[in-house]
Amino acid sequence: MASVPSLASTLQQQLADALTAALPEAGTADPLLRRSDRADFQANGILALAKKLKGNPRELAAKVTDTLPSGELIKDIEVSGPGFLNITLTDRAITETLAARAADGDRLGVPVKADAGTTVIDYAQPNVAKEMHVGHLRSAVIGDAMVQILEFTGETVVRRHHIGDWGTQFGMLIQYLFEHPGELGHEGGEADGEAAMSSLNRVYKASRVLFDSDEEFKARSRDRVVALQAGDPETLALWQGFVDESKIYFYSVFDKLDMEIRDADIVGESGYNDMLEETCRILEETGVAVRSEGALCVFFDDVKGPDGNPVPLIVKKTNGGYGYAATDLSAIRDRVQGLKADTLLYVVDARQSLHFKMVFETARRAGWLNEDVTAHQLAFGTVLGKDGKPFKTREGTTVRLEDLLDEAVERATAVVREKAEKVGLSEEEIVENGRYVGVGAVKYADLSTSAVRDYKFDLDQMVSLNGDTSVYLQYAYARIRSILRKAGDAKPAAHPELELAPAERALGLHLDQFGAVLSEVAEGYEPHKLAAYLYQLASHLTTFYDQCQVLSDDNPAEVVENRLFLVELTARTLHQGMRLLGIRTPERL
Ligand code: ARG
Repeated sequence: MASVPSLASTLQQQLADALTAALPEAGTADPLLRRSDRADFQANGILALAKKLKGNPRELAAKVTDTLPSGELIKDIEVSGPGFLNITLTDRAITETLAARAADGDRLGVPVKADAGTTVIDYAQPNVAKEMHVGHLRSAVIGDAMVQILEFTGETVVRRHHIGDWGTQFGMLIQYLFEHPGELGHEGGEADGEAAMSSLNRVYKASRVLFDSDEEFKARSRDRVVALQAGDPETLALWQGFVDESKIYFYSVFDKLDMEIRDADIVGESGYNDMLEETCRILEETGVAVRSEGALCVFFDDVKGPDGNPVPLIVKKTNGGYGYAATDLSAIRDRVQGLKADTLLYVVDARQSLHFKMVFETARRAGWLNEDVTAHQLAFGTVLGKDGKPFKTREGTTVRLEDLLDEAVERATAVVREKAEKVGLSEEEIVENGRYVGVGAVKYADLSTSAVRDYKFDLDQMVSLNGDTSVYLQYAYARIRSILRKAGDAKPAAHPELELAPAERALGLHLDQFGAVLSEVAEGYEPHKLAAYLYQLASHLTTFYDQCQVLSDDNPAEVVENRLFLVELTARTLHQGMRLLGIRTPERL
């Protein structure tokens, strides 16, 4: 395993050194290097620096140019305009650095972060006895991508699925089941998500009707909550039944999503029950929380209601019950002190941002979070329908995730089938690819816009072959694999002595950016930047195909080998990038 520094970072370093040598009083100045259309790179930092130090920018630029080591990396450098540097790299440097990446297996030269720590990611957190909705899909998809990306950069990642499995509503459900034994469950032993959900729905509806119409049942339900919180074995056993039934359903949805969720990582709200009392005691003793109208509250200067009165975070209700906040604060203690996390990441709907702002601030006041242990909400926006309103069925009910995924797969299968004959796919391959294309389309649509923005759920657009879609990327990958199969005896091999065509240089320089993009994505929790990078990569590949023949009899053998080498590295980069986003890349499509 050998990490490969990017050409941009090597050049950046050389320029910074040359700047310091040419102008010692500049200290460590940033040459502000970026990719450019006129040359490979442009450095714009000299201008501001010269102005600051009252020098002549063009003179300084010329001095920097003279000081730069010539030859291996830089082919050409020219001072342009008021003092910019246009820099062109040697073809050899590009091919050699790509060869080093290609020699580094799955890591493709991407370094493992030196100061990696432990991040706990809270994602994919549906609620027991309730249908999952598109928000839960977003959390799962974005969270899973962040897990893969952070692990790839060397971070230790602990996954936590903070499912809603506790609270007063269970009093009603359990009491109903207690009075109507055997109503939860379904025929046939096979675990079937749909059957599990419909059985949960049945019990939910029936108990709700009773709860709303029968005062005595209501009272018995309340007592049942107390029994649940006190750990009464019979009550707990019935509660466990709801959790188990819900898990059958959750797993069936995650399975459809082609996503691995592990049982040990499901630590729902109930998992922190034993800590709630102590959490509240600590908060009260340290003065972080105060009694107000019988409740235990935390106040904030900048959180006020419409009437101007402060809105507190309630950690313990007037009736002695604990809510969502007490659980989240206990979970923070557990993750920081028990799991030894230094970063806590919450992939949760933006509509819960105020809750997390208050919870994090409370935890900071209590000392659980500090400079070394930080918490972030990776907040995501709402999924909208084509009409721009929150995504609902035509009847106005929430869309069932299973139906939505099934439809995506169905549409994708039709798209795959259209080309199947030409590619020679078997029926089995059509079905498998249809699934990977359909699920990939849903994931990619979710991941390719900045998470915090709302986005429109539009299946037609998602499975389109043109444009910024996962299918487009999957086809780019499959096309390369097909070329590699057709190449027969010609094998990919780097030839640094060859001159590169403009489209080859552009593709190569983009490939070289993979590691830099990944570290930016991991640092800022922005998977959409990885999606954008991969889309650009596929676009560079398209231009390359337009301008450069790979398997042409007119090409000398070295050119064929070098081009095979370029496209093979592109395929591997696409594959790895898509894998990190949780999307498969079929070999033949
Ligand atoms: N179950 C919650 C919901 O469906 C999301 C939980 C988010 N995580 C947390 N630690 N509060 O909205």
